[in-house]
This record gives sequence, C-alpha cells and structure tokens, in this order.
Amino acid sequence: FAVTSSRLASSATDGGTERVLGAKKELESLLASALAAAFPSEGDEAQWGRDVLVAPTANPKFACDYQCNNAMPLFAKVKGREGGPGNPRAVAEAIMASIPPNEILEDVSVAGPGFLNLRLKDAFLERRVGTLFAGEAAVDAWAPEPCCARAVLDFSSPNVAKEMHVGHLRSTIIGDTLARALEFTGVEVKRLNHVGDWGTQFGMLIQHMEEEGVPFDASVGDLQQLYKDSKARFDAEGDFKKRAQQAVVKLQSGSEESLGRWGKICDASRKEFNKIYDRLDIEIEERGESFYNPLLKDLVEELRGSGVAELSDGAICIFVGGSEAPPLIIQKSDGGFGYATTDLAALRQRLTDESADWIIYVTDSGQSQHFKGVFSAARKCGWITDEASSYPKVDHVGFGLVLGEDGKRLRTRSGDVIKLADLLDEAVSRCKEQLVQREYEFAEDEEKLEEIAQQMGYSAIKYADLKQNKSSNYEFSFDRMLDLKGNTAVYLQYAHARVCSILSKARVANPGSDAGDASKIRVTCEPERALLSTICQFPEAVESTVEDLAPNRLCDYLYGLTSKFTDFYSECKVIGSEEEASRILMCEATLKVMRKCFAILGMEPLERI
Ligand code: ARG
Repeated sequence: FAVTSSRLASSATDGGTERVLGAKKELESLLASALAAAFPSEGDEAQWGRDVLVAPTANPKFACDYQCNNAMPLFAKVKGREGGPGNPRAVAEAIMASIPPNEILEDVSVAGPGFLNLRLKDAFLERRVGTLFAGEAAVDAWAPEPCCARAVLDFSSPNVAKEMHVGHLRSTIIGDTLARALEFTGVEVKRLNHVGDWGTQFGMLIQHMEEEGVPFDASVGDLQQLYKDSKARFDAEGDFKKRAQQAVVKLQSGSEESLGRWGKICDASRKEFNKIYDRLDIEIEERGESFYNPLLKDLVEELRGSGVAELSDGAICIFVGGSEAPPLIIQKSDGGFGYATTDLAALRQRLTDESADWIIYVTDSGQSQHFKGVFSAARKCGWITDEASSYPKVDHVGFGLVLGEDGKRLRTRSGDVIKLADLLDEAVSRCKEQLVQREYEFAEDEEKLEEIAQQMGYSAIKYADLKQNKSSNYEFSFDRMLDLKGNTAVYLQYAHARVCSILSKARVANPGSDAGDASKIRVTCEPERALLSTICQFPEAVESTVEDLAPNRLCDYLYGLTSKFTDFYSECKVIGSEEEASRILMCEATLKVMRKCFAILGMEPLERI
C-alpha cells in the first residue's frame, strides 16, 4: 500500500528508500504553511519552517497528540496593528483557519490562552506504523536526516599506566551511544580514543623501571604503583630527577630503545582497556596523544608566525579574548608542549585529514574550561566559525560525577578508586542472584545464566548512566539500577521479553500468520491509539538525542513507549481477540522500535528471562 501521498510525508534517503518522517516534522510543515498564509508579513513558509513551535502534548486529558505554541509569542509581535487580532486566541484561530487540507489531522482546536491542540487521524497513525512492515530494515527509514556527513567522536580516552576510572566509563557509555545515534541517522562517525599516552611522565617511569629492573610488560596495576613511586623519587631525589629528565629527552628524540619500552607500557594498558571495551561491546579506534606529537612543533611555529600566538612570560600563548578567559598556553617556558597543544593539533588534523564536519568531545565537566580555551583558539585561528549552526563545528559534552551512596565520589569501602572490572563483575553477580531468586528457567545452566546475567548487568550499568541528565552528578546504586520496577534496564528487558513471548505464543496459536499484512492495523480503543502515537514519535526522539547530544532523551522515549505498551497489554486482549491480527502487528511494531532503541543505547535485548 502507499505509505502516503503527501509531498510532506517523506524524503528520499541515500539508499533510495523513502525516509519516513516523524509526525512532528509533518505537522511543522503544515503549520508553517498555515502561519505563512495567515501572517505573511511575519515570514514566508521557509522562515516559518524555522520558527514554528510544535511539541508533543504530555497530558492525555487534552485528547490530542501535539500542540502548536506560536500564537502567544506571535500576538506579542503583531498586537496593536490595524485590523489585527485582538488576543492570542484570535491569532490561534487565524492559524487554524489557514491549515491546508491534509490527510494528517483529525481535529484542531484552540485551548487556553491560545494553544492549538492537534489530534492526528487514526488512519494516519495506522499508515505510518504500517511502514514499519515494509521490509526487514524498515525501521531504518524512520531515522531522521543526517545533520552532516562526517563526525569525529572523541570519547573514553583513559590514560596509559593509570587505571581507567568511572569517569572514563561514563565517557565510554555516553560517547558510544552518541556515535550509534549519529550513525543511525546516516552520519559517518569516526570514534577516536584520545588515550593519554605521551608526556614527560613516561621518561620518569621508564627510568625508574629500568633502575629497579622491572620488566617492561608489567600489568597496569603494577604500573600505577610504579608510576607513583617514580613520581615520589622525582620529587625527592635530585639525581633521579636529572636522570629522568635525560630519559625524557632520549624518548622524545626518538631513541628506539626508549620507544620500545614506552610501547610495551602502552601495550599493557591497552590490554586492560580492551577487556572493558570487549565486555561492553564498544568499538573505538585508539589514536592517543602521541599520534599528534610530530605535529606540535610546526603548529606552534606557524601560529607564532601568523600572530595568533604570542610570547608571554617566556611561554607561547593564544589570548582567546575576554579579560577573565585565561590564555591558552601552547608552549611552556621550558619548551614543553602540553595537553592543550595536543588538542589544538588534534582539532586541526580532524578538520583537515579527517574532513570532520562535527567534532564531539565527551569528558567530565571538569574539563569544560580546557575545551572552551581550545575552541576559542581554533576560532581565532579561523578553523571554525562562531556560529553554533554552521559547520564545521565542535562540541564538548561535559558530564557530572558518579557518586557513591554516601554522596561522595564513588570509591571502594577502603577508599580506593573503584576498578571498572570489579564494578562490572558485581553487576553481573547481582543479576545472577536475582535471576536465581526469580526462578529463572535456565538457572541450572551455568553458562546460560552467566550470559544472561552479563547482558542484564551491562545494560543496567549503561542505562543507569544514559538516563541521567548528563550534566548532573548521579548516585551509583546497584539496588536502584537493578530494580524490576521503575525506569531501569531490568524493567525494560522484562518488557522486551514479554513482547517477544506474546509474539511467539501468537505464532504457535496461528502458525503461518507471520506474513503480517500491515493494512490490518486498526485503532479501536484509546490504549492502542496512545501506543501508535508514541511509536510515531520515534524519529523525533532520535533527532533530539542527536541535536542536544543527550542520550537521556532516547531513554525517556523508550521508557514512555514501554509504559504505553504495558497499558495497552493490560487493557487489550491480544491472542484470541477479534482484533488479534491488528494487535499482533502493534506488538511487532513496538518490538521493532524498542529494539532499535536498545541498539542505539548499546543494550543487548533479552528474549527470555
Ligand atoms: N585522557 C583525558 C583524561 O583522562 C581525556 C581526554 C579527552 N579528550 C581530549 N581530546 N582531550 O582526562
């Protein structure tokens, strides 16, 4: 059947399949043309397309799906004009009267001070959800349009010879989801691990290890201790300090022996990092600070030559403007380059060699000042513009701290930094206990139990993190994240498994009913309608996740969808009802969208628990 006949309904994706727009986009087009017709002096259709305010309605009391909120601000602009509207409600009525004939809206009404309530036609919802059955990957056509061609996502980025901590875990989880969301929309994403693998500390560490006769393939745990010890000696022993400084010079001048040792230290760390990435199914390419080292000297010279950077107190600085903004130091007075120099070089390399349109950095908010400085410097260099809307652009996604249940930074009971591997282990073992307690059917099968507990535990950790407003601190609590009720991955996993089980029962009851005929979808009651309306919001949820770089948007959406499904399922009999065919399709459509959300959130869905 025809997806829809309206020109507004879809645009072609690269693959040639028709892109299915979210209901919000459709309404925005309709309302933009209404606004342009009713108030031509305030903008043409294109202008109104940018200014139109359409939002989903949260309150079911209004019996509408969306509302248009333009009347109030518009009235403020046009009031007092000859023959103009006397109040915001009159503005809303004028907009309403200009909505072109369409196949989308069932009902439009003015509410309150001048809101326009928009109720979608059931047939529109049915058709729209029907497009999910246009083939295996039909849900991919629901992806919003890519905002640009290529993005670089700089995330995770732990430091060599140091333990990867919960801050890096947060960066890893958030960064991975943002990458997946962008990729879903068709953006080509380069995921880069900006590992801290270079700097003067390596000279010190190598010198210390050599003197102590420590083999260079030590484990990371040992390396951390060795690092601390070498630092203590560096600060206390003048002679050692001298030897360590010589070791730095030797390493930086490219001595093969030094580089070999440095490489071994990096290998040991990499092995540990990769264990975590494997467990969490994270794909990322290592491109540490050392990669940019050969570019630093020339960059500093060039920026000095062009006058962007200048000498100040023996150091080379970029004054980024504003009296309170500290200058970005790109070469210290001792001639060394720092974290900022590397980031500036990396930024340019990504714009040029990687042709990135959008570079996104994911770290804790503690680094905001650093990135502000680097971005301002890049603007001063003319590499990026000031406008937030024009590409190429850069963004720092800063996030809050992970706190323990005592409200302080997450630590072990003895006050040590928590090891990520231990954290993951505990999530898995708690999930195992929970499964056994709930008499999980495969509890006897050790291997199966382990596998399911891993999927549950890892998704619980990821989801607990992703659902937070990223900028706030959050309290890490196993009890809360593994709660069966409430907004947790465990609740979502059970709901997912429930949908799977309904569908497999339906298949048993009606063998051969697989070939669902999407034209059979029929709305007969409110819970069905609410479910379909929510399904149709999926493109918008992805779009706002990407636009605001906020994974919690998608979590909220998935949780809302799941709740709507739960309402539907508790009120509507599926198997054996008169509406069976239609309702099975509704379950399938829910499953398709749910699974896509799971995939973007990096959670492996469980079919049976
Ligand atoms: N290694 C840094 C840290 O552990 C994070 C690096 C973030 N990325 C960047 N391009 N600076 O804090």
